[in-house]
Amino acid sequence: MGVSRGGFSSRFGFIMAAAGSAVGLGNIWGFPTQTASNGGAAFVLVYLVLAFCLAYPAFMAELLIGRYGQANAVSSMQKIARNTGQKRFGFVVGFGGIICAALILSFYSIIAGWMMSYAIEPLARLAGFTGEADWLINHSLTRNIIFTALFMGLTIFIIRRGVEEGIEKWSKRLMPMLIGLLILLIIYVFTLDGSREGFNAYLNPDISRVFEPDLLISALGQAFFSLSLGTSVMIIYGSYIAKKENLVTLGAQVTLIDVSIAFLAGLLIIPAMYVAQAQGVAIFAEDGSLISGSNLVFTVLPALFSGMGKVGLFVAFGFFVLMSIAALTSSISMLEGPVSFVVERHDTPREKATTLIGLAILVLSILIVINLDWMLDFVATLSTQYGQPIIAMLCCVFAGWIWHRSDVLSEIKQGNIDVEHSLFWKVWPWYTKFICPTAIGLVFWHSL
Ligand code: PHE
Repeated sequence: MGVSRGGFSSRFGFIMAAAGSAVGLGNIWGFPTQTASNGGAAFVLVYLVLAFCLAYPAFMAELLIGRYGQANAVSSMQKIARNTGQKRFGFVVGFGGIICAALILSFYSIIAGWMMSYAIEPLARLAGFTGEADWLINHSLTRNIIFTALFMGLTIFIIRRGVEEGIEKWSKRLMPMLIGLLILLIIYVFTLDGSREGFNAYLNPDISRVFEPDLLISALGQAFFSLSLGTSVMIIYGSYIAKKENLVTLGAQVTLIDVSIAFLAGLLIIPAMYVAQAQGVAIFAEDGSLISGSNLVFTVLPALFSGMGKVGLFVAFGFFVLMSIAALTSSISMLEGPVSFVVERHDTPREKATTLIGLAILVLSILIVINLDWMLDFVATLSTQYGQPIIAMLCCVFAGWIWHRSDVLSEIKQGNIDVEHSLFWKVWPWYTKFICPTAIGLVFWHSL
């Protein structure tokens, strides 16, 4: 590891950072919402299977490419390539991932900004600033711009400090806070009337729905988004891991944390919806399905919190702080992708590159805020439904077909000397070569 590029100082640091990237709005908002609109527990079951059987192998491919390359996504891919054609291909995949990360950040920071303004609102109300509190939860152009910029400012602040002092330090602080808050909220909701019904809806699968194509597609998309695949993020995080670490277990641990937190978030949100229903809040849409999407987070849950009186202000604060933290540990990873590329390929100082790229993405975010009605959906679909699966698939193709098997083995062997005789090595190469690209391709094609 080159001293100048930095790296994670400890195994725990890497786990917190990678889990921080993985655990985000996708887990705490996306997963429960998808579960609510896709038949409850059946979706949870399919998600668990797909996360370990498809997303984990693809995740390993990205981590391995990064640790082998010890560089940004483009340089890491190109290090594996052996001729000009493959180098070009490596550039397209690596750079495509970087652009995808930047596009995701451009809309993610808007939603994260809402989370922050909703977190401050209960404080303003407690302090007696009713007018300001109302402003904080009413969608207005000024509020959206201010909070998007604030959130982007925080992201830039952390990334300017580099890997160890920025990403690692803040992930190690924020992730335990996030887990603690999540557990406290679950315990609290559990004590409220109506939560049992929610637990039942969440935990009893309707097995007949398990093979529905739409459910499978949503679950796979969710798993890929959640593990931050196809965005160059895991390649760059992989490049900061020391060679002495066992990547196979590290990758599995991160996947396990990601999936567990999504599961826990469901344990909070779905019962909370039923509690809201017990208090007279409508939780079913006109077609009979559970309310999901932004209505759930910004209408149903706030209605629940406000029905709780003064306690509700603290619960609302806790919930939206949780959301904001989850978003921040993910957004820093999105910014690190493009920043590491510019720093390493164009010899730019990290502080300068971070500020410039962060501001450029903020300009795009503001453009989206101004055209919120169509652009948010457009950029989100483009990056997460098209960009991520295509690039994740190409990463698997790269690792499975272009990278020499013996070179892959010697990379995995570092930190895991017996891997050759393990189940992982019997299954994974074959999986990344055939199963992952085919499955991702099929699901992608079907979703079109
Ligand atoms: N995994 C994050 C989440 O679940 C989102 C993310 C996507 C982060 C792509 C980095 C890159 O919210």
